[in-house]
Order: sequence, then C-alpha cells, then structure tokens
Amino acid sequence: MPITYDTTKKQFHLFNDQVSYIMEIVEDLYLTQVYYGQRITSFNQSSSFPRIDRSSFSPNPQQLSNKGFSLNVCLQEAPGYNNGDYRDGLVAATYSDGTKATNLLNQDYRIIPGKPKLDGLPATYVVDDQEATTLLINLSDPYRHLTVTLSYTIYEKRSVITKSTSFTNDSKTTLTLNRALSACVDFPTAEFDVIQMPGDWAREKQLHRQTIMPGLHSLESKRGASGVAQQPFIALADPKTDDKNGEVYGFHFVYSGNFKISTEVDPWQQTRLLIGINPFNFGWTLKPGESFQAPEVVLVYEKNGLNRMSQTFHNLYRERLARGKFQYEERPILINNWETTYFDFNEAKLLTLADDAKKLGVELFVLDDGWFGKRNSDTTSLGDWFVNSKKLTHGLKHLVDQIHNKGLKFGLWFKPEMVSEASDLFKEHPDWHIHIDGYPTSLGRNQLILDFSRKEVRDAIFERMTKILDTVPIDYIKWDMNRNMTEVGSIGRDSKEQLKTSHLYMLGLYEFLEKLTTRYPNILFENCSGGAGRFDAGMVYYMPQSWTSDNTDAVERLKIQYSTSFMFPPIMMCSHISESPNHQIGRQTNLNTRATVAMAGNLGLMLDLKHQTDADLAILKEDLQWYKEHRNLIQFGNFYRLLNPYDHDRYGAFEFLNEDGGLIYFVEILPQASKPWLRLKLQGLEANSLYEINHQKLSGSELMNYGIYMNTDLFGDFQSKLIEFKKIK
Ligand code: GLA
Repeated sequence: MPITYDTTKKQFHLFNDQVSYIMEIVEDLYLTQVYYGQRITSFNQSSSFPRIDRSSFSPNPQQLSNKGFSLNVCLQEAPGYNNGDYRDGLVAATYSDGTKATNLLNQDYRIIPGKPKLDGLPATYVVDDQEATTLLINLSDPYRHLTVTLSYTIYEKRSVITKSTSFTNDSKTTLTLNRALSACVDFPTAEFDVIQMPGDWAREKQLHRQTIMPGLHSLESKRGASGVAQQPFIALADPKTDDKNGEVYGFHFVYSGNFKISTEVDPWQQTRLLIGINPFNFGWTLKPGESFQAPEVVLVYEKNGLNRMSQTFHNLYRERLARGKFQYEERPILINNWETTYFDFNEAKLLTLADDAKKLGVELFVLDDGWFGKRNSDTTSLGDWFVNSKKLTHGLKHLVDQIHNKGLKFGLWFKPEMVSEASDLFKEHPDWHIHIDGYPTSLGRNQLILDFSRKEVRDAIFERMTKILDTVPIDYIKWDMNRNMTEVGSIGRDSKEQLKTSHLYMLGLYEFLEKLTTRYPNILFENCSGGAGRFDAGMVYYMPQSWTSDNTDAVERLKIQYSTSFMFPPIMMCSHISESPNHQIGRQTNLNTRATVAMAGNLGLMLDLKHQTDADLAILKEDLQWYKEHRNLIQFGNFYRLLNPYDHDRYGAFEFLNEDGGLIYFVEILPQASKPWLRLKLQGLEANSLYEINHQKLSGSELMNYGIYMNTDLFGDFQSKLIEFKKIK
C-alpha cells in the first residue's frame, strides 16, 4: 500500500521506491505539507515545524490560542483566501454575502486503488489498478460550506505523483469561484533555480533558467490556449543540478487553455508553487450541490539530474497519457506540401510531389492548407470544409485514391476551431464566434474563433468533418489552430455565466476530440497550432504527435527540440527536413545537418523535391532508409540531452539508447579558429559492457567518463555527425 495514514501523528505518507510525499493534519484542522523528495523509509520527524510567535504580522487563527501557529508561515496543501495567509492561495470564491474569506479545514479522507478518470478532462491513467493508488482528502469551510477535494495519485513504479482538485458548493446559496487552482506545493526552502520555457511563434520553448526571485512571480497564458509564449511547465532545481546530476522537481499542467504557475518566496525563504487555470477572465458560478473539477498536474521528482526527470515524463506520456492505435506504433515518414506550394497547387502538382516523395521512401503524403472553399490566401474560407473543385478538379476522393495507389498514405489539414469572416459559414452564422455582442472583435491572421463552448457550433463542424472522413479514406489529420482569444464572450450565455466561456471552450474542444478520435481510431492525429502554440500535455491525450514549430531551421530547431524534450519524448515532436535557405529565417544550412536534426524527432519532409540536386536526392533517400531502420530506437528508446545548444551557440548533442545500443547526434553550430577539441561523454551506458563504436570496442565506463573526440574533423558552420554504437552481448 503506497499510501498510509498514521492516526497518531495524523500523517499521510505517499511513497514508492523513489519518492516520498508527506502531509500532516495540524491542530486537527489544517492540512500541512511536511516533506516532498527522495524516499524516506521510516519517518520519525525528529524536529517538527517550528512554532515561533510572529503574531504581529502573521496572525493566528481564531480557534487557536497557540500564538506560534500562523497560516502565513506554515507549509500548506490547500491555502485559502483572506484568512491570515498573505501568500496567494488555491481558491478564491465570492459568497452570497459578497465577501470572500475562505478557510479550508480537514474533514475526511479515502484511499482507493488505481486512479479515477477526470470527467471531460485529459489526464494520465492506469491500465491496471495495481499501478497506482489514490488519496482523496476532503477539506471544507464550515461557515461557507465550500468543500474542496484534493486528489493525489502515486504511481508504484514511477517517480510520479499527480494532483488535481475539485470544488463543491455544499451551501444553500450560489457562490462564484474566482480562482480554482489544481495544486499547491509548499517547500521549506528557496534554494532553487527556476526552469521555464518562454517563447513566441516560430521560437517556441526557449529554455530559460535563473535563480528563484523573492516575492510572487508567475508564468501564464491568457490566450485561451496554452500558447506560444509559455509552456505550462516549471522545474525547480537545485542550483547545482544539471542534465546528469542533482535534484529537481518538475511540474506539468495537463491542460491546453489559460494557465497560471506561480512561485512565491516568502520572508522566511520558503517557496509556494501554485498551478492551475488562470484566474484571469475566469468566474465559475456553482449553484448548491454543483462541483467544479480542476485539471491535473503531473509532479516528477528526480534526484539524478534533468535527463532522468525528462525520461520519467517521456515514459509516462508515451505509456499513460497518449492513447489509441498509434501509441506504440512507429510513425510514418511524411511529406507536407505547405512550404513547396503554399496555396498554389492543383492535382497534377500534388501528384508529382507524391511521386517524387515515394521514390525517396516517404510513407505518408499530407495535403496542407488551401484545399477547401475558396481558400487561395489566408483571408478566406475557414469553416467551409468543402473541397475546392477548381484546385482538385476530380475531387478529394480521386486524389486520395491516386495517392493510395502509389503506395502512400494520405493526410489532410484542418483548422476546425476557426472561421474566416469571408466564408459561407460566417454569412450563415455571424454570431457563432467568440465575441461580445455589440463590441468590436480583434482579428488574428484574418480569422475568428468558433465558439466551441456551444454545442450547436461543435455539432455543425463535426458534421462537416465527418462528411469528408466518412467518404474519403483519410489516414492522418493535421489539426491546426492559430489564433488566440480576445474579447471573450459567448452569445446566448447568461451574463452570470460569461466568465465560464474560456474553460467551457476547452471542455467543448476536448469533448469534440474525444468523439472524433473514437469514431476514427485508424486516423493518426497531429496537433498543430501555428507550430507549437498548443503543444501541451492536454493535447497528448487526444493526439499522439505534435508539430514542434513552424520554424524548421536546423539550428533553431536544435534549441526548440532540446527544450521540448524536457517534457515530451522525440516521438511526439514532429520535425521536418526543409529548404535552404530556410523559409522562416533565411539561414543556409547543409542537408546533412538539416537531416540530422530532423531525424532526432518524428521525421517528415517539407521540401520542393523538383528543385533538389540529384546528389541531395540520393542523400535523402539514404537518410530515409536509415531513419526507418533506426526509428524504433529514436521513437521508443531513452533520450539524453548531452550538450546544450543554448550555451554560446557552440554545440548541441543528443543520445538515444536502448538495450542493443544507441545513437549520438552531434552538431557544431559556430566553430572557432584554433578551436578547442570536444570530448563528448555519453550517458546511461552499462559501465562494464563493451560497445562497438567507430570500429572499436570500448567499455561503457570509458565512453561515459573519458568520452570520444567529436569535432576534430568538422570544418565550417552548422556541421554535424551521427554515430551509431552497438552493445556487444
Ligand atoms: C500554420 C501551421 C503551418 C501551416 C499553415 C497553413 O501556421 O503551423 O504548418 O499548416 O498554418 O496555413
């Protein structure tokens, strides 16, 4: 039983071989956080949380005469609101008397095998109840009758705990939740570096690390999507921690909408971490008896460095977040026509590209934007999901049949959540988009967002999509979404319920995706949002791969893929070999390096094959063959970051490893004259095993400690090499 409750000490202990999470009910009232970190086998708590009178500015709860106890100082699991804890809390609610103070006091708990589903929300899961145990703790404000249920699941064999929270109105009057976060973790220290992933379009997930700051700091999205500017991820690492060594706590929010992650370092150098739906533009009325379920947060603790933390996320997401037929299937190499044709294509052009792609070994042909309505530019037709017969003169089915006859699978691009003002759909339903009646609405890439919080809107789009999918044998869908919410309002919704819209939109989208992916289990779905504008853990539950960035430049991608790998495994990161000069930044990079970087993920091409030299086509053919032979290792092996490309734009290196051997990917970005030689050290090998590498037999301990010289034979910018090694058995 990996969760115990000690009735004398009133302590909960969640544990497995790797991790312990301990909480205590103090004064019979408050659920406090005692310890989170490396496994403690027997906990006697030689010294308990100090009680010192700081009552002038850290008030004592009325029920307690003991001046040493203040909510402002102690470490908590479910901090309330306006109750003497001046830090931010888990909940804020407005009650029928117009006031907001909330105090969450212990009520009861339950321990159950397995892990219950979160209704309507994406979440990690178990296949067998033996895999995990769940603790549900009820806390309640006895005056307000707001009950908060904290849910904790600990996996038996992973260093993973998941947390989520639900809020129930047990009073006789309606209340409004202004803040209903998913998790609070209080730490007794502020000795942390904060690792986060800020970015922008085509520059997503730029690794950023700095010492934690005093006071309250947050990373967040107010976009109605997790967004390009931040990832709902944070890691708190010991300042000495690197990829190979040291302690780190990783937190990832399993949600695709507005989020807020805050760190708050208090005057006593304690750190509060809060994660949940952003309170921005959020208000959830709860009538008597109603509940609100907040999404899940995944917590990973690791004592041996950032790579191991990432591998725990990778394994969890591959095995217990992704679902469906493709979860464990090697993913096909695709070609996408976007950067070759943009909107300017016809059947003949597409078929020529498909022929040339087939000759190289491509397996899936993807038709991107522009096949529907009158879509010859990005100003029109979103919502009109009817084939453009001027471009595809014989119809979509005819094109798909021809592609299939060539031995290729066929994929199609959709952007179901968007509508163009210049569309038949908009003419018929001018109030179906997210907007406020009578108030101007901003445009983003000439488009508006369909109001997926409304069932009739979802149903209409579902019908348009299924009309195509039921009649045309499509093997893959690229689901795009590339503008964010503004002026949020939903026509027809009661004024008291308007602030539910952004979250109802997400619930509507999740419901749509569940229905669509269940109805078409043989379609491989790729998540896209103008690149990685919604590449988050929530989406992984519905779509097992994502477009990593619209930026396909190899050097930029090296960085984006490096940071993306903090949370997501390479199989989920779609990466394409594209043109040089690159269409996003104009950089010229040799084919070898473009291919090397793309082959570190889920491979595709975005290349005009008519304009490649014969020599390059021959290289591509060999590369695709090589990728097919190694993709099992790349997509399902263990992944290690070896060298950080953000360090002075000097080098980047990755390693893939399984029990048969591995691969080393090395890029020298900007070399120097009289350059220092680089001896690259591998990770994760068996010290006493022998590996065949560069025609030599070397021990794991030599490769991990002495390493191998990597850059002696490289000359010029952006050079790379790929080395294979085999374990000798
Ligand atoms: C988005 C996607 C691109 C492409 C274009 C088409 O930006 O990220 O890959 O599909 O839309 O308009």
